[in-house]
Amino acid sequence: MPETITEIREIPAIKTDSEILHFITTEDPHEAEGLFAAARKVRSEHYRNEVYFRGLVEFTNYCKNDCYYCGLRRSNAGVGRYRLSLDEILRSCQIGDTLGFKTFVLQGGEDPYFPDDRVVEILRAIRGAYPDHAITLSIGERPRESYEAFFKAGANRYLLRHESACEEHYAMMHPASMSLAARKGCLYTLNSIGYQVGAGFMVGTPFQKPEHLLEDLRFLRDLQPHMIGIGPFIPQADTPFRNYPAGALEQTLRMVALARLLLPKALIPATTALGTISPVGRERGLMAGANVVMPNLSPKEVRKLYALYDNKICTGDEAAECRYCMEGRIRNFGFVPNMGRGDAAGWTASGLSS
Ligand code: 5AD
Ligand code: FES
Repeated sequence: MPETITEIREIPAIKTDSEILHFITTEDPHEAEGLFAAARKVRSEHYRNEVYFRGLVEFTNYCKNDCYYCGLRRSNAGVGRYRLSLDEILRSCQIGDTLGFKTFVLQGGEDPYFPDDRVVEILRAIRGAYPDHAITLSIGERPRESYEAFFKAGANRYLLRHESACEEHYAMMHPASMSLAARKGCLYTLNSIGYQVGAGFMVGTPFQKPEHLLEDLRFLRDLQPHMIGIGPFIPQADTPFRNYPAGALEQTLRMVALARLLLPKALIPATTALGTISPVGRERGLMAGANVVMPNLSPKEVRKLYALYDNKICTGDEAAECRYCMEGRIRNFGFVPNMGRGDAAGWTASGLSS
């Protein structure tokens, strides 16, 4: 644990591939703590000690894809499927608004039940009720026209993790119907439409090598996303990857810190997956440079069914419990909640100003 480390090694600027690779792989706790301290410093220059809150609404767990790591994959007959109605989605947003959230994140599998017009209907309804809130969509790959229609209907941000920026590794985690090229294409399209865009990846997925993680960071540096989601891979019992070990906490934290150092203004969540592999995983994520948390607003009855991986936390808690639990946790580590919209630093409607 960091408290027991007396000597924090100051780290120089990390720029070259070999410097990055060194920190991806180092097992030296002093070096790692130096990396985390550097990431905290950079984060605080742009965001002080504030942590942004986003309200997550997981509105469908149907998915037409068959990713080898994900518990929502279509071949998994072991998960009970659900969809929230428009009213249920609006009710979740209303609860979130009452709790002070100014960002709603609508996340779901790639569910054909929600063609563009249904998504547009949902977006218009939320936008009508909450003109000043940020709306984040996370519903996978769609054509440019769909993304444009969603943007027009009120979506401001879009999360789409690239999962692995290395072609070969991507192909080992996904069926042949999916491609890294398509994924990257979507991300650049979203950027060009004017969304604040989130990319990201898992740490410790089967077959992943340090060079793949380097490639992930290089891709982020090229894409310059506004948001970066990084969490450990966690096996799910009904998937082809069930027998592989989970990603390591320490390496995940180092990847968070490296992402912060390479993209200083990014909004980086301390992910639920981090909180799942360690009781203080999210707090340590914040200590490694993350600055966002995403408490769950989905109705309690469906929480357990959004089973991306096993033992997911926060599945038995009401929205309010999660909201205040999270606030207490971050305050314990010296952070302060920011319930504002929390757009990326320097963000203007037409793009990043600096
Ligand atoms: N372990 C950790 N994260 C996972 N995700 C999907 N399956 C798993 C898993 N088994 C992540 C993916 C996806 C996000 C919504 O959840 O990176 O983009
Ligand atoms: Fe969800 Fe603590 S953050 S219960």
